[in-house]
Amino acid sequence: MDRRARLIARARQGYRLAYGAEPTRFFAAPGRVNLIGEHVDYNDGYVLPCAIDRETIVAAGPPAPETRERLFEAVALDMGEMLSARDSFDLVAPIRRGENAWENHVRGVVQAIGRYGHRVRPMRIAIAGDVPIGAGLSSSAAFGVAVALACSEFSGLGLPPEILAKVAQLAENDFVGCACGIMDQMASAAAVADHALLLDCRTLQTLPIPIHEGLAITVIDTGIRRNLTESAFNQRRAECELAAAHFGVKALRDLDLATLEEGAASLDPVLYRRARHVVGEIARVEPVGVALAQGNTALLAEVMREAHLSLAQDFDVSLPPIDRLADLVAEALGEAGGVRLTGAGFGGCLVAVAARDAGGAIAEALERYNIGADIPATAETYRPASGAAPILLPG
Ligand code: GLA
Repeated sequence: MDRRARLIARARQGYRLAYGAEPTRFFAAPGRVNLIGEHVDYNDGYVLPCAIDRETIVAAGPPAPETRERLFEAVALDMGEMLSARDSFDLVAPIRRGENAWENHVRGVVQAIGRYGHRVRPMRIAIAGDVPIGAGLSSSAAFGVAVALACSEFSGLGLPPEILAKVAQLAENDFVGCACGIMDQMASAAAVADHALLLDCRTLQTLPIPIHEGLAITVIDTGIRRNLTESAFNQRRAECELAAAHFGVKALRDLDLATLEEGAASLDPVLYRRARHVVGEIARVEPVGVALAQGNTALLAEVMREAHLSLAQDFDVSLPPIDRLADLVAEALGEAGGVRLTGAGFGGCLVAVAARDAGGAIAEALERYNIGADIPATAETYRPASGAAPILLPG
């Protein structure tokens, strides 16, 4: 059985155990790794993520006969003890926040679909996934988008990828309490296999960029997890908004480097560094896109190095062990590829975009790092996957 077949079997089994019935449909949405454009989405800039071949699967079916008119029921197989992670809520009454994050992803999605003027029909779902949780690979976005797709399709709404992404984002913003941007959900909803997704976070226009066949995308998990991610993330976002307000622009996307430098003297030094990261990072998206398509590993090495240093020094979202690991991998790769912190930071993963035959160099760098590390780092190469879709099962 392959990875996806195992996941489908788990979702099906969880559904049977929870509801004593068979699911009728299955839906999937992938996690993502961002290649360039970090902490840029909520500044209306450009980003370049790709979906990975790890995903959330939702098994869905009709409600129990006696609750046909009102109830939405969910069971999350990766949360809590077997079958302890269950939730149900009334679709006719106003939907309120639940007790924990996963319930709020589900409730928030159903509520947000309502805000778009649509009605989710009563249904039952079981959710299972294999996107590593808390690693910066967007397990939450995969979860939210998979639930949104299941709700949309099961209720015959046929919502397009941008709306699926927006309702999953609204759920995070308003129900879960994270002021995340739109990148993760758009990558999960709209990615194209073997491509990265160039996304304009202001207009939500997308352009799939082919990834040169000589390149491999390796995610290096530092194993470091931090709980303060949400509060620190929300703080960074607030700082960016203050910097934009200082310059009288709608978002930092509208600021150029010359204007930033001219106004630097009157700007708080922390806000200046935050803005410098965002302006520089937006400018790095295009060269990385070109390098990806052309397989130009030397250019990837150069631009991703700059990006890492900017995240570490100006945006302050790295940690000393992560910088050490990034240094070791960059040194081992030389001009064979680039490496940088990916995702929100404060722990999580590095991403390396490098020549396929550079896997040995990455592995050696990891070995050297792990000798002195408190938490060992691990590496995994992912295939750039396609976005959320119903799963068509034979028969
Ligand atoms: C998290 C957020 C995204 C984005 C990244 C940083 O993944 O959910 O919206 O801001 O961090 O680029």
